[in-house]
Amino acid sequence: MSIDSGARRVVSLLAWLFLLAGCNGTTSYLDATGTAGHREGTLGWWLTATACVVVALVSLAIIAGIVRHRGEGDQPPTRREIASGLNWIYVGVGATVVVLFLTFAGTMITLEAAVHPPRTPAISMDVIGHQWWWEVTYHETGHPEFTFTTANEIHLPVGEPVLVKLQSADVIHSFWLPQIAGKTDVIPGQVNEMWLEAGKAGRSRGMCGEYCGLQHANMNLAVTSESPAEFARWAAERRSPAAAPGGAEAQAGRDVFARSCGACHAIGGTEALGRVGPDLTHLASRPSIGAGALDNTPDNLARWIRNAPTIKEGSRMPAIPLDDADLHSVVAYLQTLH
Ligand code: CUA
Repeated sequence: MSIDSGARRVVSLLAWLFLLAGCNGTTSYLDATGTAGHREGTLGWWLTATACVVVALVSLAIIAGIVRHRGEGDQPPTRREIASGLNWIYVGVGATVVVLFLTFAGTMITLEAAVHPPRTPAISMDVIGHQWWWEVTYHETGHPEFTFTTANEIHLPVGEPVLVKLQSADVIHSFWLPQIAGKTDVIPGQVNEMWLEAGKAGRSRGMCGEYCGLQHANMNLAVTSESPAEFARWAAERRSPAAAPGGAEAQAGRDVFARSCGACHAIGGTEALGRVGPDLTHLASRPSIGAGALDNTPDNLARWIRNAPTIKEGSRMPAIPLDDADLHSVVAYLQTLH
């Protein structure tokens, strides 16, 4: 079943007016490609179309009534007119009940389908919401050696359901990958579960969907859907410890990092074991830093390290007092972390 393209365009325009910033191609749930998200998006289109049709029909009925009875002045209605008016009320109530029942049934069927993954997921993720970033630990059932931790990025194997267990380190957040699945709240003191399944390869953006403080808007996730083989390769890379840096500057940077950053950040295979901030083992291969606050470039890394709170006000990452040589060397080191 599909709405014809003209009607779809009108509905699309209306939806666009409501969503404005939400429709940039990577965050629109209306063209979701994930299994659950696609169902929810289709439901969204049908509910919007139904609402538009109802508004149009009611408006037409009102206009027709006004036109038909124009010029009748204050004459009292005849018995026949009263009967006809009552009939219209019965028709309206009946039609409303039918439409509400159909939308309720459609919503329940979609929600029921969206709750259950198509089969038991082999891969699961522990996702912890922090003010203001995401900690993500992957597991595979029966393979404890698969486990690895990353931050602010999610990769999904196309066609394979992934179980997500959501926890909060501080306040209420909401985990939302609009193109993959609907949002689920992340509540302190409880574990909420959901599942994700990417329908086709591509990149999109995930975000926090619940206001959680000053930097709620900078709590994003880079989402990559890829073939199971590519996902396996990515997971193997993420599991491997950071390679030892080559040049003298990067080696000096590693020492600076261990001294100045290692209490808060972890880098696999080094003495930096901090768990306060994001794991940085493969930082250089992430597209952004600060949970989407800045693109991941050497200049931005330097700015971020020098004074993160001026870029992301309220961020737990303090300004780090490094001299220029140490700052450059630590940035050189971070760029080796592929
Ligand atoms: Cu976390 Cu909004």
